[in-house]
Amino acid sequence: MYTFTNQFMSRQNNLEFLKATMMGPNAMRVAEELASYLNVNENMRILDLGCGSGLSTLLLTQKYGATVFAADLWISPTENYERFKSIGIDDKAVPISVDATKGLPFANGYFDLLFTVDAYHYFGDTPEMLPSLIPFVKKGGYIAVAIPGLKYEFGKNVPAELQPFWNGEMERTLHSLDWWKDLWKRAEGIEMVDSREMACCRQSWEEWLTAYHPIVAEDIKMMAAEGGKYFNLVQLIAKVI
Ligand SMILES: C[S@@+](CC[C@H](N)C(=O)[O-])C[C@H]1O[C@@H](n2cnc3c(N)ncnc32)[C@H](O)[C@@H]1O
Repeated sequence: MYTFTNQFMSRQNNLEFLKATMMGPNAMRVAEELASYLNVNENMRILDLGCGSGLSTLLLTQKYGATVFAADLWISPTENYERFKSIGIDDKAVPISVDATKGLPFANGYFDLLFTVDAYHYFGDTPEMLPSLIPFVKKGGYIAVAIPGLKYEFGKNVPAELQPFWNGEMERTLHSLDWWKDLWKRAEGIEMVDSREMACCRQSWEEWLTAYHPIVAEDIKMMAAEGGKYFNLVQLIAKVI
């Protein structure tokens, strides 16, 4: 399932690139697992929403030859354009700045696939967000999301081991698979085609903990305390009808 990622990471210079570029659980591996549930191909136009530094964009352009609009809030399009040129995907990847909460600058029905890795939980936790995104995907197209989540809803009972690390943003953004399924059930114009906990959770987190990002030091402590008991990766795929 992870042939592209494993081969990419087998080269030392690529591994260094990945360690310098990851912003969370290895987005290339997570994207490769999510994409394995979809029929991605070179004729597709994909919106990679919340692409960050573009590891999922790299996967979608290089493994499948798709055209990808690499849209993000925190990482500037100029930074991504420079990176895309340096790795030779600038002919297939269009860097663009968006804030998903403020509306997207695209035509209705423009995309075959809206694909988003480790980002949707930051902006997708309201009943309004999914209905606002559906029109940008053509009928018969797909919306595919992979996000960090919880094995069960904590409510007020945050496990003692996690309390030193828990904060308001985690409380708002981290939810169980059932919580997300309930939210998506309310949207019209889609049918759920897949929802599951992802297989690469542990490995993608372990890879992230080798990254050079300054928040890794704190995440190493948090994941040691978590001990594989509470976190998962949530996958949601819906078809636009
Ligand atoms: C943890 S980073 C992950 C980046 C990348 N997808 C990855 O996995 O490496 C979360 C990303 O979500 C994006 N994001 C958060 N809120 C957003 C919003 N309102 N609109 C678009 N992107 C957003 C940020 O810009 C950031 O790059």
